Amino acid sequence: MSKRIGVVTGGGDCPGLNAVIRAVAKASAKRGWDCIGILGGYEGLLEPRQTIPLDYQTLSGLLPRGGTILGTANRGKFSAKVGHAESRLLPKELLDGVKAGMEALGLFALVSIGGDGSLSIAQQLFEHGIPIVGVPKTIDNDLEGMLFTFGFDSAVACATDALDRLHTTAESHDRVMILEVMGRYAGWIALYAGVAGGADVILIPEIPFSYESICEKIQEREKLGKKFTIIVVAEGAREKGGEFVTSAADTTIGEARLGGIGAVVSARLEKCTGKESRVCVLGHLQRCGSPTTFDRALCSIFGATAVELVAAGDFGKMVAFTGPQVGAIKISDVIGKLKVVRPDGNLVRTARALGICFGD
Ligand code: F6P
Repeated sequence: MSKRIGVVTGGGDCPGLNAVIRAVAKASAKRGWDCIGILGGYEGLLEPRQTIPLDYQTLSGLLPRGGTILGTANRGKFSAKVGHAESRLLPKELLDGVKAGMEALGLFALVSIGGDGSLSIAQQLFEHGIPIVGVPKTIDNDLEGMLFTFGFDSAVACATDALDRLHTTAESHDRVMILEVMGRYAGWIALYAGVAGGADVILIPEIPFSYESICEKIQEREKLGKKFTIIVVAEGAREKGGEFVTSAADTTIGEARLGGIGAVVSARLEKCTGKESRVCVLGHLQRCGSPTTFDRALCSIFGATAVELVAAGDFGKMVAFTGPQVGAIKISDVIGKLKVVRPDGNLVRTARALGICFGD
């Protein structure tokens, strides 16, 4: 009987999950291993177990397809995140349940594709004796030790396209147009899209802003004959001394759901500048659809590298793009550590050199 491995996706979805699944399954097949997908996150390993074979037929058309064919969950029994980079310990019955599921399915290893929460579960499973390898994903790009996570480039491409589009309506109506993007407590999406999309103001969690500074920038542009202003605001951005703006208290995961800062900024700017302002909340559009070329390549490397780790018996590790090559690091070295934008980093300094205002 051939050896068999399982693949599971956890946390919020993101472009490129299917491309990683495909790469893991193809690289496994190349080694003569059977590969199956666990449905609905780790819960698919519990009774009644839910899996699909990841054979050549299933893999057809997966590379450009958004979402995950395995389904995923960032709520429920296996939700490990309880807040700002904190996680909870799973009860022993659940860890035992996963072990029993793997035994029943004849799996000798598990590849877990997920963000900080899923990786924290992967670490707990590893400590419980389960041979597991992680593949980091998040559009937020906020995992410590990683130059880039897959999904980030696709999210930035979507936000940049939105900024390009907003320019034309802002210019036609002489308005302040605000684009609110995701990213949780890190401003990577706003920063990269803001620079790539020619924003005039970028507001990120790492650099608290003041309305006076933004108004000055708008007025300065008016004097130069630019009657419109483009602002990109990260959902986790906040005024100096202010709180995060939340759209809902998400009691199911004990973590606040960020959102709404764009509308708050818009109302304040209308008041202080007298100019009309509109908000566009990009929301989940950033997380869906096809991965970019860069993400497809990264996902393929990540999937193939995960299989190399499994083959080497290098468990408890995750694939890591630390640059210039993709390698591996211990999952325990990374979980719970947020990688945020450095206010003195390269791209912030570049943005400032180009005249972009951070509202500070
Ligand atoms: O972590 C990815 C992310 O898209 C964040 O940028 C965002 O705050 C959050 O997930 C939204 O999660 P949900 O889809 O569960 O509302």
